[in-house]
Amino acid sequence: MQHSSKPRAVTTRRLLEMKAQGIKIVALTAYDALMARIFDEAGVDILLVGDSVGNIVQGHETTIPVTLEDIIYHTKAVRRGAQRALIVADMPFMSYQVHPDEAFRNAGRLMKEGGAGAVKLEGGQRVLEAVSRMTAAGIPVMGHLGLTPQSIHQFGSYQARGRDAEEAEQIYRDACALEQAGAFAIVLEKIPAQLARRITETLRIPTIGIGAGPWCDGQILVYADMLGLTVDFHPRFVRRYENLHERITDAVRRYAEDVRRGEFPNESESY
Ligand code: KIV
Repeated sequence: MQHSSKPRAVTTRRLLEMKAQGIKIVALTAYDALMARIFDEAGVDILLVGDSVGNIVQGHETTIPVTLEDIIYHTKAVRRGAQRALIVADMPFMSYQVHPDEAFRNAGRLMKEGGAGAVKLEGGQRVLEAVSRMTAAGIPVMGHLGLTPQSIHQFGSYQARGRDAEEAEQIYRDACALEQAGAFAIVLEKIPAQLARRITETLRIPTIGIGAGPWCDGQILVYADMLGLTVDFHPRFVRRYENLHERITDAVRRYAEDVRRGEFPNESESY
């Protein structure tokens, strides 16, 4: 019998097993096939086509302007680049808040047209009906609690959430409710590590932290931050593994110099 060389795809079921076995889950954002392929081959388990595409790729101040069509476009590209990772498509602002029917239809488009393996949406109580509709129909849903960037105009800042007892309790209750509604995982963004620990220890489904401390079942970062492509953004939860902004600037300057001096292309680079 011949075995395929294709790596075994990460499924939502596998993520549950990973939590049960104490294996940490590695997640990164991706918005195109080029990066998706690199991250996938490096062994990233979840590629999130985040609405952070609005900040990172489109140059917006917030994620609010990102459309469903944008996420479908980027999900298709990531799908083409990745073989193993679970691809999660973010539901953009106003694609799931108006009515559970609309949320359901839009989640379906992300799966059918974009090729996503799951969708993510922000919020607790107020999205439970939509989450239940989706999960009942076989659409895997990832929740997102704590700092939810689509509510930036309500929060008024990107500060950590859940620091007072009342808000912490609400986030905890929302996490339990999302699990009840059938979510397969929850992103916890910028909340105290001890709160993330309590949620992680209570839930059967994995928690994926970003600025939520070391006890989450997995971690996610925006790839442009961890590779040092973004410059004026230094929150304490981002560890920079590279300084690609500097390295790319240097490479482009050297290329420009070579072109201007007539040193590129040389004979062996010509036909
Ligand atoms: O859009 C995004 O990149 C996200 C992550 C920060 C979790 O939601």
